Amino acid sequence: MKAAVIGATGQLGSDVTRAMTGSGHEVIGLTHEDIEIYDINSVRGVIERLRPSVVVNTAAMHNVEKCEADPERAYRVNAIGTRNLASVTQEMDCVLVHISTDYVFDGKKSDPYVEGDEPLPLNVYGNSKLAGECFARTLNPRHFVIRTSALYGVSPCRAKGGLNFVDLMLKLARERGQMRVVDAETVSPTATAELAVQINELVKTDAYGLYHATSEGSCSWYEFARAILSTAGLKARVDIASPNEFPAKVPRPQYSVLENSALKKVGLNRLSHWQFGLLRYLEQIERFAVA
Ligand SMILES: NC(=O)c1ccc[n+]([C@@H]2O[C@H](COP(=O)([O-])OP(=O)(O)OC[C@H]3O[C@@H](n4cnc5c(N)ncnc54)[C@H](OP(=O)(O)O)[C@@H]3O)[C@@H](O)[C@H]2O)c1
Repeated sequence: MKAAVIGATGQLGSDVTRAMTGSGHEVIGLTHEDIEIYDINSVRGVIERLRPSVVVNTAAMHNVEKCEADPERAYRVNAIGTRNLASVTQEMDCVLVHISTDYVFDGKKSDPYVEGDEPLPLNVYGNSKLAGECFARTLNPRHFVIRTSALYGVSPCRAKGGLNFVDLMLKLARERGQMRVVDAETVSPTATAELAVQINELVKTDAYGLYHATSEGSCSWYEFARAILSTAGLKARVDIASPNEFPAKVPRPQYSVLENSALKKVGLNRLSHWQFGLLRYLEQIERFAVA
């Protein structure tokens, strides 16, 4: 299999590149300098030159506040960019793997969202990603549209900058010995290394379609923070932040837990519980620190 990974320097893209290369596939990692997804000529030029059998698109504008402030750009990258990829990959008989988000839902449910639940995004980011999903699903029949949630990985998230949530909690524990964390949002924290393995399994099949792919189980950010410290063996005080302490500037779903229902139906769910993903991540960064 010859795969092109778009966003290869990103948090997820770097792990997808690693996982697919490790499986013996020929993988071309594309950076933002190599391809501009909202420019159809750039997309056509790169894909026609490389002739991959699979394109994995991890590129997005996904800083929620920036999307809200610049909806035109958010739609250009997340919707038109995906449309360009979907139409060119379809013309070239190539599979498209497109990464989407739990933010397509409004968070009003109290049990996990399945693929058949109606999306109703609360913000520009979620709306533009939903538009991208629709283009991928309608323009290229050989698509895997993968919704995921609350990612963290060894490579920093380029759109958000700074440390991921796990690394930030470790730093605060070591440097301050205390922290305050919100309890209002419930998510399924998902390690990009685990998701990359899942994507690599899925692309070996022709079970095209829409998939939820997050770690099993769920927790609030507060519960996640506590688990990070106890798993890392660090002692620090963690308190629940009051609702007005870190006010969200843009509406977000309060509950965005996804059930990997479609993956389970086709017998391809490879994602384990988020606590296991966390343990593996902590071992991984320990190894990186030693190396
Ligand atoms: N992070 C999360 O918690 C989360 C949760 C749910 C879903 N997702 C989805 O997961 C995917 C991957 O997220 P991530 O955290 O790995 O993102 P990331 O670290 O920000 O990586 C995105 C990559 O895409 C590149 N890129 C951005 N705009 C591009 C464009 N217009 N054309 C070509 N390349 C472009 C970026 O390059 P530059 O930085 O050089 O611009 C970067 O290498 C996204 O689709 C996101 O919507 C993320």
